[in-house]
Amino acid sequence: MNLPEFPVSRPRRLRRSRALRRLVAETSLAPSDLVLPLFVKEGIAEPQPVGSMPGVVQHTRDSLRKAAFDAAQAGVGGLILFGIPAVKDARGSAADDPDGIVQLALADLASDLGDATVLMADLCLCEYTDHGHCGIVRDDGTIENDATLERYASVAVAQANGGAHVVGPSGMMDGQVGAIRTALDAAGHQDTSILAYSTKYASAFYGPFRDAAEGAPRFGDRASHQQDPANLDEAVREVRLDLAEGADMVMVKPAMTYLDVVRRVADEVEVPVAAYQVSGEYAMVEAAAANGWLDRDRVILEALTSIRRAGADIVLTYWATEVARRL
Ligand code: PBG
Repeated sequence: MNLPEFPVSRPRRLRRSRALRRLVAETSLAPSDLVLPLFVKEGIAEPQPVGSMPGVVQHTRDSLRKAAFDAAQAGVGGLILFGIPAVKDARGSAADDPDGIVQLALADLASDLGDATVLMADLCLCEYTDHGHCGIVRDDGTIENDATLERYASVAVAQANGGAHVVGPSGMMDGQVGAIRTALDAAGHQDTSILAYSTKYASAFYGPFRDAAEGAPRFGDRASHQQDPANLDEAVREVRLDLAEGADMVMVKPAMTYLDVVRRVADEVEVPVAAYQVSGEYAMVEAAAANGWLDRDRVILEALTSIRRAGADIVLTYWATEVARRL
């Protein structure tokens, strides 16, 4: 065998022990990078399991407080709340009702947790409207952009009044970040941040979430406002618009099938970039693991590490508390 005269690079040298691998790891995952999405439902006496998301429940106000406490205790970086009202109507009136479920839940958590973790609220109408769309629907079934912005502005103020540190507009209406920023500032909430769901794709991976949040559209789909999975440049355009309108952080969603988008956005902007590992990503792994087809714990860490490697500073994941405890 011909050995080289000079030592050649041997990448395996740095892989021989766990300690060496840890020393040279390029990507880290910490509890503070993770944000836990939580569902809270009005008018239920017990937490309700979500069939398509084993391990995830729709919380009561009380069970939410416990889950939020556990997450904060585990060092999770943030929580994002989704509310499911008892009564829905065409304009999503419960979304900005000061006594609406999310506002009450935010107030509970703000008083329990203070600044121990970051309290976020998803800002959309689809969980609150009887038709399941993200905005005001015209007679012909299309969504009226600017009338919807007025609703979002009012919801943002209600959520900030409730105690949200961050609002996360997820409806993909044009101009939503600007409308919300203006309304927050006018209401004295200059310090409330906006995490813009800037590049949210029209994805089939949201299926299980729509069970959890009870927000599936009764007719049509969301393709007129969410992004076409075929597009990447458009993601950059959306992000730039949101930043110009005053977004403090931007998000790419879903994560795993859009890691190229995460990378591109992370390279383009200087603000924190979040990625949402959505319900379908969670459900796939849980379903395969339940069948014994995947090593659940390893797959979860690998998936989250990949999202961080792609450039996400923050990862929204339904496994946040569990993973934070394991790290
Ligand atoms: C809309 C919203 C959705 C998700 C987060 N916010 C669903 C949708 O656009 O239909 C999906 C999250 C997930 O799938 O985990 N309010």
